[in-house]
Amino acid sequence: MWDYEPKIIKDEKPLLEAFVPEHVLHREGQKQLLVSALKPALAGRRAVDSFFYGPCGTGKTLLARWLLNELESHSSKVQTVYVNCWKNNTAYTCLSSILKELGVFTTYRQATSELLKQLEVEAREKATVVCLDEVDSLEDKELLYSMSRSGVALLLISNDPYALVDLDLRIKSSLRPEPVEFPAYKTVEIFDILMQRRSYAFVPGTVDDIVLKLVARLSDGDARVALETLRRAALLSEERGEDKVTSTSVKEVFKTTGNLRKSEALKRLNEHEKALYQIIEGKKKISTKRLFEEYTKIVENPATDRTYRNYMNHLVKLGLVKATGELTGRKYELV
Ligand SMILES: Nc1ncnc2c1ncn2[C@@H]1O[C@H](COP(=O)(O)OP(=O)(O)O)[C@@H](O)[C@H]1O
Ligand SMILES: [Mg+2]
Repeated sequence: MWDYEPKIIKDEKPLLEAFVPEHVLHREGQKQLLVSALKPALAGRRAVDSFFYGPCGTGKTLLARWLLNELESHSSKVQTVYVNCWKNNTAYTCLSSILKELGVFTTYRQATSELLKQLEVEAREKATVVCLDEVDSLEDKELLYSMSRSGVALLLISNDPYALVDLDLRIKSSLRPEPVEFPAYKTVEIFDILMQRRSYAFVPGTVDDIVLKLVARLSDGDARVALETLRRAALLSEERGEDKVTSTSVKEVFKTTGNLRKSEALKRLNEHEKALYQIIEGKKKISTKRLFEEYTKIVENPATDRTYRNYMNHLVKLGLVKATGELTGRKYELV
């Protein structure tokens, strides 16, 4: 009764986000830049700070994690940490999760300044590289300044190329990371990435090249969309009792996975931004004045005008909302 022999997917793990493949494809240039920046750490010295930027699904997180792992396993003189600032967006949570990963004992009673001192001690003992992914979500950018002074090398990552532009001058002058651009992949590059995963995840002969080509074409340079489309299409074909992944399944699941970028962006909104988004969703176009008025009516503690503008900038940066016109004539609509 419980006989179940998956016909298409041999192992689902290589199709999931957390999987780190043996090789990172088509990122040689970026890899070389980061290797040069990290090399001093091999001699126990401080590495050069870097800044990875580029759209979603271009391998920023993967390359960072992959290279930091490599570096750490290569030399006992280096320790590396990876933190996602979206999940740890205050100075305190960010620092405690860094120290936790470094195996340093902390208590919740310690002030942020004490945690910083502990990090400083760590950086003195061993060359320390800290990767702050989705760094634009960090509430308190001052932390970048204090971390930089504590002696750790920073690897910052953001989808937003301007994430570090608005920083205080003082922070900017002490932190000049090497910029490393991650452009969207070409269709043929996505195809190669899919081929690599096919060999790990599928029963041989169940995914034709033509299917991978279709997925690659639809994904528009985003490897995350590509992998998720392939995974869900395979599950759908299996469920339908087919013995191969079909183009029909791909097209069907893409109706959902095609919006993955948008749903990822929506997850990153705070309560206020969500409310603002919902108001705009109900209208075709809305003026900034009307929007602010409606917003103050529906949320409990509405933000001031200035913070409201920051929220709107964030919605625009995430590619969820489009702004037209200037200043008071400004209008918003969904993208
Ligand atoms: N060059 C590559 N080779 C193999 N897999 C890749 C490559 N680039 C991205 N991926 C895969 O695509 C997905 C999205 O990549 P990720 O690094 O999370 O993108 P980003 O951080 O730029 O949004 C992950 O599952 C990752 O493993
Ligand atoms: Mg990422």
